[in-house]
Amino acid sequence: MVSAIQNPLGERGQYHFPPGFQRNLLWVAFRRLRPANPIILFQHLAEAYGDIAHYKIGWNHILFLNHPDYIREILVVQNDNFIKERTVQRTKMLLGEGMITSEGEQHRMQRHAAQPAFHRQRIPEYAGAMVREAVRTRDRWRDGERRDLAIDMMHLTLNIVAQTLFATDLRDEVDELADAINRIMGLYNFLVMLPAAEWLVHVRPPGLAAFVRARKRIDAVVYRMIEAHRQRHSDQASLLDMMLAASPDRSPASEQSLRDQVITIFLAGYETVANALSWTWYLLSQNPECEQRFHQEIDRELAGRAPDFDDVPHLRYTEMVLAESMRLYPPAWAMGRRALQDFQLGEFCLPAKTTVLISQFVTQRDARFFPDPSRFDPQRFTPEAKARRTKFSYFPFGAGVRQCIGESFAWMEGVLLLAALGQKWKFKLVPGQRVEPEPLITLRPKYGMRMQLELRKQRGNAGWVA
Ligand code: HEM
Repeated sequence: MVSAIQNPLGERGQYHFPPGFQRNLLWVAFRRLRPANPIILFQHLAEAYGDIAHYKIGWNHILFLNHPDYIREILVVQNDNFIKERTVQRTKMLLGEGMITSEGEQHRMQRHAAQPAFHRQRIPEYAGAMVREAVRTRDRWRDGERRDLAIDMMHLTLNIVAQTLFATDLRDEVDELADAINRIMGLYNFLVMLPAAEWLVHVRPPGLAAFVRARKRIDAVVYRMIEAHRQRHSDQASLLDMMLAASPDRSPASEQSLRDQVITIFLAGYETVANALSWTWYLLSQNPECEQRFHQEIDRELAGRAPDFDDVPHLRYTEMVLAESMRLYPPAWAMGRRALQDFQLGEFCLPAKTTVLISQFVTQRDARFFPDPSRFDPQRFTPEAKARRTKFSYFPFGAGVRQCIGESFAWMEGVLLLAALGQKWKFKLVPGQRVEPEPLITLRPKYGMRMQLELRKQRGNAGWVA
């Protein structure tokens, strides 16, 4: 279906664009499509034009892809011809030049330096801290209380990243950090749409001043953490120790680079997992049969003791629940790339600088790959079903050289946290709670996730037998 050719302009020397909006989107969008929610736009493009759609915003050509072959082509086969697109570049205002936003040699070096912390052999070490934090969280909760689980999951995963990867206890600062990041997330769509925001940030009009304040608060926590780390020496090298060792000196440029790398891992490593967990609790609460099976598995496999690393391979249904939850509500809901040179996709010849957009949210809900797509069904992730599925139709962690470095970490954390919290608690959505995904940097529940806690009665359980 897709092939690369030597001369992308083709024999006639002309670009050949896929079908799509005839009018410039600036005009169409304001009339009909509510661009404030890009998922609605993407779903419309997939329904109206199929696997590949084209439109223009101003001078920019944009492609939206909704077929696994095209997705593979961009992320893997022709990967050398693509860099991250403009909205990702805009996140540099928060993340600086960390692993998510950097390109080329700088990206390669950063990824290489961080790799040992994500090595298979290191991952089991982190399991203890993950479960300890989950147990501490679950033991603070009271039967019958109503909590916003979206906030609880954020605090829990933020603490876990701090302890596992940065060997730092952030419990006293977690509120401040999460609050500052929330403020920035609230401004995210505004920042993405604002022309020349990188420049305006120095002038600080209203809105951007709030961004600058929040970024300063985050920086203060990060710099404190780096300084505290310099003061002490530990035998077990954390990711931060590795970053410090790779940092050439204490010049402002090195300090800035260190800050960028730390904040990138923080943000990438906690928001995503927290959202995956919030959506999973919601989906389980709406699907009692799956919830019951999930409870049966953790009760059977753990018999009341806290889970540990060795339990993960036995918690198969729990993993299937998490996988299905990330199909319906993928924390990374879309990815964007920009072409460096002219290129070809199937029969289409496209110019350099074209923006290419791909959405996990849209493709993972396509009935061709997932029949009855809006139904929550963890059975889609049995080993047999996975083996049958078209490759690149499910890609919550991306693919190719920029595939998520934290994927193994995230699977283990997700399964352990679901098991540890689900052992003790059952969650029911509070009546009247609105549930809607909000596509920011990650896919957050727009109105939070308020749930009522119910203590589970479990036979043979050491801690909370009723
Ligand atoms: C459910 C959890 C997670 C999801 C769904 C997720 C998703 C993704 C996706 C889709 C990408 C690729 C983005 C692109 O190609 O444009 C990515 C990259 C990345 N992720 Fe994750 N992620 C998760 C957890 C984590 C964790 C736990 C960490 C670290 C502790 C992490 C660190 C990163 C980093 C550093 C990158 C950039 C990699 C590179 O460009 O080389 N992620 N993630």
